[in-house]
Amino acid sequence: LSLAEKKILSDSIRDIKDFPQEGVVFKDITTLLNNKEAYQVLMNHLENRYRSYNLDYIAGIDSRGFIFGAALADRLKIGFVPVRKKGKLPSTTVCEKYELEYGYDEVEIHLDAFPKKDARVLLIDDLLATGGTANAASKLIKNVNANLIEVCFLLNLTFLSGATKIEKHAPVYSILEI
Ligand code: PRP
Ligand code: ADE
Repeated sequence: LSLAEKKILSDSIRDIKDFPQEGVVFKDITTLLNNKEAYQVLMNHLENRYRSYNLDYIAGIDSRGFIFGAALADRLKIGFVPVRKKGKLPSTTVCEKYELEYGYDEVEIHLDAFPKKDARVLLIDDLLATGGTANAASKLIKNVNANLIEVCFLLNLTFLSGATKIEKHAPVYSILEI
C-alpha cells in the first residue's frame, strides 16, 4: 500500500469523541464504506495481499468484520464464516468467553463451520483494541480444527497492545496503526 493510499484510508475514517462512553475516541468506519475510492483501495489491497495465501475460508467477526470479510471472500472466490456474538447462531456451536472493559461477552462459531479438512483460514475484523474479541475468535477457529493462517485488521490501536494476545495464535497484519 502506498503512502497516498494509506492517507486515503486514514482520511476516510472519522473520530467520534466520547462514544459509546466518555473518554473513548470511537473510530467510525462508515465514512470509509460510503467512500467508493477508499473502499476500493482497501478491497484491492486485501485481494492482492491474500490472493497468494491459498486460503479456504475468510472468518469475519460480528459485526464490522462481516463487511470486509464477506467482500474479501467474494473477491477471492472462497467461503465466508461468521464468528457471532452469543445466541445468534442456530446450529451446534462452540463458544468462548472474553473480557470487556466492564464485564464479559461471548463469541460463537458453528462446530461444522469449516467443512473442508485442515481448512486454511484468515480471520478479519475492522479494529484491534484490547484484543479480547480477536483472541476469543482465534481460539474458536483452532477449537474446530481449522488452521488459522493470519489475523487481519484495518486498524490497530497499538497503545492497547492487543496484538501480543493474538500473536500466540497466528501472525497479525494491520493496514493502519495508531
Ligand atoms: C469492536 C470491533 C472489534 C472489537 C475490538 O466491535 O469491531 O470487534 O470491538 O475490541 P477489542 O480488541 O478490545 O476486543 P464491537 O464489540 O463494538 O461490535 P460491533 O462490530 O458489532 O460494533
Ligand atoms: N472497538 C473497541 N474500541 C474501539 C474504538 N476506539 N473505535 C471503534 N471500535 C472500537
